[in-house]
Amino acid sequence: MLDLRKSVQTDLHFIPHSLHIHMDKRRTLIHKIAPEKGYHERENSIFKPRKYFIKTHDLCRMTQKISAAITAVSGYVPEDILSNGDLEKMVDTNDEWIRTRTGISERRILKGLNKATSDLCVPAVLSLCEKRGILPSEIDCIIVGTVTPDMLFPSTANLVCEKTGAANAWGFDLLAACSGFLYSLTTGASLIESGRYKKVVVVGADKMSSIVDYSDRSTCIIFGDGAGAVLLEPNFDGLGVLDSILRSDGSGKAHLHMKSGGSLSPATIESVARKEHFIYQEGQPVFKFAVTRMADVSEELLKRNNLTGDDIAFLVPHQANKRIIDATANRIGLSDEKVMVNIQRYGNTTAGTIPLCLSDWEDQLKNGDLLVLAAFGGGFTWGATLVKWGC
Ligand code: COA
Repeated sequence: MLDLRKSVQTDLHFIPHSLHIHMDKRRTLIHKIAPEKGYHERENSIFKPRKYFIKTHDLCRMTQKISAAITAVSGYVPEDILSNGDLEKMVDTNDEWIRTRTGISERRILKGLNKATSDLCVPAVLSLCEKRGILPSEIDCIIVGTVTPDMLFPSTANLVCEKTGAANAWGFDLLAACSGFLYSLTTGASLIESGRYKKVVVVGADKMSSIVDYSDRSTCIIFGDGAGAVLLEPNFDGLGVLDSILRSDGSGKAHLHMKSGGSLSPATIESVARKEHFIYQEGQPVFKFAVTRMADVSEELLKRNNLTGDDIAFLVPHQANKRIIDATANRIGLSDEKVMVNIQRYGNTTAGTIPLCLSDWEDQLKNGDLLVLAAFGGGFTWGATLVKWGC
């Protein structure tokens, strides 16, 4: 029986001469990709010169390859708003500077004692289950992309399983800063594609207000708190996560990091006094790197799937800075109405931005829409994922 799962990396595939294809499938496959020719002629031309290509979704249909469809999406932001006007009272900044340099007007802040990232995840996960009509106990695995876990251990995913009643699930946190959701989505999709899991929840969530220095005007204007979640389930029609390119470069540590609190520099009275448990960011190098890398990887993803901007319904970019979003959209030839932007309302919620966009735009998405999800973050980490919407 044909099993192409291991060879399926991109949207277009050679049909190699050496494939051992079950006879029925082989006939359908040959007919599908070269209907104009007679059977033997088609067989010779396809399997000998390795000339023909086939799209992933056709391949999935014919080979019963499992793909990970996004079958529900939800978002959660806390009620409290921190506006540019509020920030004007805290640091030397102004609304006009923030809006023109970043595109942000306000962001949400999770307030209250004993409130943490898991408290952003829980409403998102519960609403996801409600929308799909499933019980949390049916979830197999929860992955939480976050850079602000409730604690270093246990993992936030572990706490979310307990708080939502996902009693049969295992889970883990994945730390890739602003690329956390894409890294987690790709990982979650692999669990579904393996055939071992039927319901995987991927959450991107951050309580950035817990690591922002509200006396540093260059960082406090950017970040906000929020969470978004998607449910992944097996699909045999080639819907869902089709392809991902993920990258990392540890040399980026110099420009964006949190200096203390890890094993390199555990917390001390001195490290707290030196404000080393807050985000350290050199805005300009991060900006330059983000503009190039997010655009490069999105373009590469389209090219290797033989797509252009015209084939894409929406770009779903990480919401770091409106100027970075615009540069990525321009590079892959997408006009403004095809780009999801909600940075003005939430700021940069780190791992939360992409699923929050999907949740905000859900009503406009149609079955079969192709989406490019693109992110860039601390590490450096970056990547792009191609999704075919629908379930
Ligand atoms: N309000 C007013 N002025 C500010 C300011 C603020 N909040 N923050 C910085 N400035 C000042 C600077 O001090 C500087 O003044 P100077 O010219 O007198 O020295 C001037 O504005 C320009 O600063 P600069 O850092 O060059 O601004 P910028 O255009 O690069 O914008 C960022 C700063 C942080 C908004 C921008 O660099 C950025 O978005 N970087 C990427 C951040 C990011 O995406 N991080 C998350 C990773 S996913």
